[in-house]
Amino acid sequence: IKTARILGIESSCDETAAAVIENGNNLLASSVATQIELHKKFGGVFPEVASRQHTLSIYPIIEETLLKAHLSWDDIDAIAATRGPGLAGSLVVGFNAAKGIALARNLPLIGVNHLEGHIYSAWVKPEISDRFTPPEFPVMALLVSGGHTELNLMEGHLNYRRLGATLDDAAGEAFDKVARLLGLPYPGGPSIQKAAETGNPTAFNFPRARLEGGWDFSFSGLKTAVLRTIKHMEEDGKDIPVADMAASFQEAVVDVLLTKTMAAAREYKVKEIVVAGGVSANKALRSAFTGQGEFPVHIPPLYLCTDNAAMIASAGYYRFVHGHIDSLDMDVLPNWPL
Ligand code: KG4
Ligand code: ZN
Repeated sequence: IKTARILGIESSCDETAAAVIENGNNLLASSVATQIELHKKFGGVFPEVASRQHTLSIYPIIEETLLKAHLSWDDIDAIAATRGPGLAGSLVVGFNAAKGIALARNLPLIGVNHLEGHIYSAWVKPEISDRFTPPEFPVMALLVSGGHTELNLMEGHLNYRRLGATLDDAAGEAFDKVARLLGLPYPGGPSIQKAAETGNPTAFNFPRARLEGGWDFSFSGLKTAVLRTIKHMEEDGKDIPVADMAASFQEAVVDVLLTKTMAAAREYKVKEIVVAGGVSANKALRSAFTGQGEFPVHIPPLYLCTDNAAMIASAGYYRFVHGHIDSLDMDVLPNWPL
């Protein structure tokens, strides 16, 4: 069997990343230059700052990745880069770099959907694991990131049937907004998780939007309930119990995500569940899914949950072997659905 090595490039938001994947699963090297410190003072990602920083980091991160993998350009078979969705100014930096390399080195270029990338993080063999088997189809994929929350049924590679999605805020967005309400630093997900460690998850009974009879999600009511509770306590001159609120909020999000995903997994009789995207780094969410015991579940290790290029390279590999090569004159798609 011929080996295929894909160089992945990711720059859709605030991480500049490159990675090399061999045959879809074997991670040879992965580098991520994060801009979190840069954006912290703005309380969120500042698009112009992000794209400027990507411009500075993109070539060094690619060079570093090849060095780490002990590879030269001759060892690379194709370039896969995130085409969307994401911030336009950030996407173009990575995507244009990919186009330039593809042209100069005469390599095939593959445009990868960032959401598809997150799902394919479950196909990347974790560096420490020696007993890795990729997910078996049909798969129920729960994608929970900063911009998206959706349930996709996958009956085969590159085959997505979107069953439902959030009608308002994404799960990660809810974490980020509620963190801000509680005065916790950006990014909100890790801050809430940390605050929740010393909190009581049953202290507040925040609402769970069940949206019975469908597979959609809604998190704006939960966010509003947190806001209302804070306001009432402030009016009453009470101290805000940040840890208890963080824990109760987190519990509500995890409850809704787990319940709906399990119901969909049963309904569509899948073999496995995949949980991916930045929010899948959440400890409470991970233990809820690994503890359910009904379906085998793939949740990538933390360094593959948040934005990275290994997942882009893996998705790129499956596109490559299925003949999905793109032309060099295509453009980024900031609102590209999966
Ligand atoms: O997938 P990602 O890195 O970027 C997007 O594609 O959006 O996801 C970022 C989101 C942010 O909203 C962040 O707060 C959330 O993932 N996140 C977490 C955790 N780590 C990151 N949410 C909850 N718990 C975490 N530990
Ligand atoms: Zn992402």
